[in-house]
Amino acid sequence: MNKQREKFYKIITYGCQMNERDSEKIAGMLENIGYNKTENLDDADIIFFNTCTVRKKAEQKVFGKVGSLKKLKEKNEDIIIGVGGCMMQIEETAEKLYQKLPHVDLILGTHNLHRLPVLVKKIARNRDRIIEIWDQQEGLIPDVPSRRSGDYKAWVSIIRGCNNFCSYCIVPYVRGREKSRPDEEIIQEIKELAGQGVKEVTLLGQNVNSYGHDLDQNINFSQLLKKIDKMTDLKRIRFMTSHPRDFSVDLIKTIKNSDSICEHLHLPLQAGSTPILKKMNRGYTAEQYRSIITSIRDEIPQAAITTDIIVGFPGEKEKHFQETLNLVQDIKFDMAFTFSYSRREGTPAADMKQQVPEDVKDRRLQELMKVQNEISLYKNQELVGKEVSVLVEGPSKNNPDKYSGRTRTRKQVIVPADENLAGKIVRAKIQKANSWTLYGELSSTQQDVYSSTG
Ligand code: 5AD
Ligand code: SF4
Repeated sequence: MNKQREKFYKIITYGCQMNERDSEKIAGMLENIGYNKTENLDDADIIFFNTCTVRKKAEQKVFGKVGSLKKLKEKNEDIIIGVGGCMMQIEETAEKLYQKLPHVDLILGTHNLHRLPVLVKKIARNRDRIIEIWDQQEGLIPDVPSRRSGDYKAWVSIIRGCNNFCSYCIVPYVRGREKSRPDEEIIQEIKELAGQGVKEVTLLGQNVNSYGHDLDQNINFSQLLKKIDKMTDLKRIRFMTSHPRDFSVDLIKTIKNSDSICEHLHLPLQAGSTPILKKMNRGYTAEQYRSIITSIRDEIPQAAITTDIIVGFPGEKEKHFQETLNLVQDIKFDMAFTFSYSRREGTPAADMKQQVPEDVKDRRLQELMKVQNEISLYKNQELVGKEVSVLVEGPSKNNPDKYSGRTRTRKQVIVPADENLAGKIVRAKIQKANSWTLYGELSSTQQDVYSSTG
């Protein structure tokens, strides 16, 4: 009998955690039809790009990277090159990619990811080129296998899509309307993960706070959190992203009263100026944002708060930008993802007057980053001398002989250790800090070292 050669896949992922999670499903589906994972492009029989379209730069990168595979395909025409994700959900972009890059075999939308195995088999058999993009999810989201990327941490999607239509954002157009997963399905998935040794789960959604409103049963995000907390024995529960407009006092109380829900909130501010927030269609004022932060810190003083900020939104004048800087100085976020406004065709902001020149956006971005980096450093240095609990993920990539993990507040900690600590929750005393990383030592009390009092 002819022994078949092993086949390999390589996935290249851009963008947010939702995409990372989808890539786990892509990996699971490909493994299910006989492909094995490889990190090496030259070994791959399938190369799949899971793209992002939130900013234009990410899009340009994909065209460049996919384009550069032409030579590989010339050497071996049996390779299957696929492109999926949010960028392919925009018809003109998918069409352009199909025309410009004839070595691409498969173009797949976000709503029909589960069709991947059938389409791959078809291409392998007939060498067709296939474009398949659905306008929306048809019927129930099918259950597909996953290959999870971590042993102790996992992402669980609880709500897909977004109904918010922030005026700069393309996500509602490419991911569709909000669709919550039934709570029993989520709890079942988490129980299975916990049974496999997962200690920490991050609940994912573009806007987790609006969880449940589209379900028949009466359940909101706080109630879902309480249920997960009660019905599973996870050590750590995280969630992202929260929308300030839908943030409730009840949620703050739920976090405060639970041992397993981590004290970290990712709460995108986007802009610190009320008129700009209004043009962004964010649904809150700068003052309301401030007051949410005050309520969180009053109830949970140790909470870490991180955010997303866009500079150079159309009509942003120097005074508006200064308001953002002032708010950032006052609030003191633990960390911020900062972006230069990127014009996305089809969104209301793309057609707004007073687009901000690139050089002004760049300068504001640099200025904001400088301010935030100093704040992140200050925040991290406050922890020097303190003891924290760390879920160790594995050996540190940049520090041989050391281990890397995260605090409940999601800060990275590097600790030296003689034994394999991966998957353990340990106590560490912080000795040194920079803007992004904490360096610690395992605490001397050995009983504490492996305690689960995360
Ligand atoms: N330009 C720049 N940043 C954007 N984001 C979303 N759309 C745009 C855009 N058009 C940012 C927001 C969001 C994060 C995921 O990406 O800050 O929270
Ligand atoms: Fe985009 Fe706004 Fe929805 Fe976030 S909440 S995905 S920024 S539209």
